[in-house]
Amino acid sequence: MEPKRGEHGSHVAAPSLWPVGFAIGVAILLLGTILGWVIAGLGAVITALFGFLWIRDATNDLRGEEVAIEPERREVAPRASATAEPRPANEGEAGMPLPEEGEVERYPRSAFLGAATLGVGGVIGGLVTVPVLGFTILPAFTSQGSGQVDVGAVDDFEKEQWLITTFLQDPDQGEVSRRTAYIRNNGELDGQPSFTILSHRCVHLGCPVQPNGPVRDDEATRETRAENEITRIPADPSGFGCPCHGGQYDTEGNRKAGPPVRAMDRYEFSIRGGRLLLGQTYSVSEVRGQGAEARIKRHRLAKPGVHVDGPSSWLYPISPP
Ligand code: FES
Repeated sequence: MEPKRGEHGSHVAAPSLWPVGFAIGVAILLLGTILGWVIAGLGAVITALFGFLWIRDATNDLRGEEVAIEPERREVAPRASATAEPRPANEGEAGMPLPEEGEVERYPRSAFLGAATLGVGGVIGGLVTVPVLGFTILPAFTSQGSGQVDVGAVDDFEKEQWLITTFLQDPDQGEVSRRTAYIRNNGELDGQPSFTILSHRCVHLGCPVQPNGPVRDDEATRETRAENEITRIPADPSGFGCPCHGGQYDTEGNRKAGPPVRAMDRYEFSIRGGRLLLGQTYSVSEVRGQGAEARIKRHRLAKPGVHVDGPSSWLYPISPP
């Protein structure tokens, strides 16, 4: 006899592939947060679609929809005697042998498929979320301790004069942390001091960029503050050049020629107590205008050789810390 709803306990939903599609959608959505919003949108659509189908399947009972249950059909064995009375179900031999002591317990296929679906979804989710979380959270820890560096009084930086400034990024690490910045005082903009501060790390492969023009070593000044020796050397560059592969930049750090893929990186800065403090470096794709009027297209700090804007940047979704 064909079973009816609710006649033999609750109906167990048939195994479904919707959770797998849902997990794949979540994976694409998370991947999209790295690669771009188009992919994230695609992932959101897939997630919503398969989520809807999954919920619809799972709530069939609640919504009272009739679930078509295909009755099991098999050939009816001929009776030993046409006149023999059918035997009650609780008489005769068991249909299946009972498991003996120690025998492996039988595992329903639906339970196996359910667990496998959850397992596959968990693995995919983990593979995607762990790297994303790592690269999201790690910088907060790896950038700890890289504080601001005092490179001199604001008055030490004559207006419109480039100073090749070297300093220790972290005096505890010693000379290995020595850095060079090209600093130009642009004067004031709306009553606020303005500085152009370029990192000398070439954005092609990281060689030290040099000023194209005279460097007045004999006018260098030195100052030691908090175990940090700072050197400032005046220079009159018409631009900057890299000795390794011929990369060329203008005085705003824009790439002019050669293999570099973006403008020179810059330092954040602040003024405290009349002193110029350098902060973190950041990457720049382009600078429009000059000096205090410059408009800088700023990006999170990227490794040398990495594009930071345009379609090429999609090839560099992750820049490891
Ligand atoms: S490292 Fe500067 S041009 Fe190659």
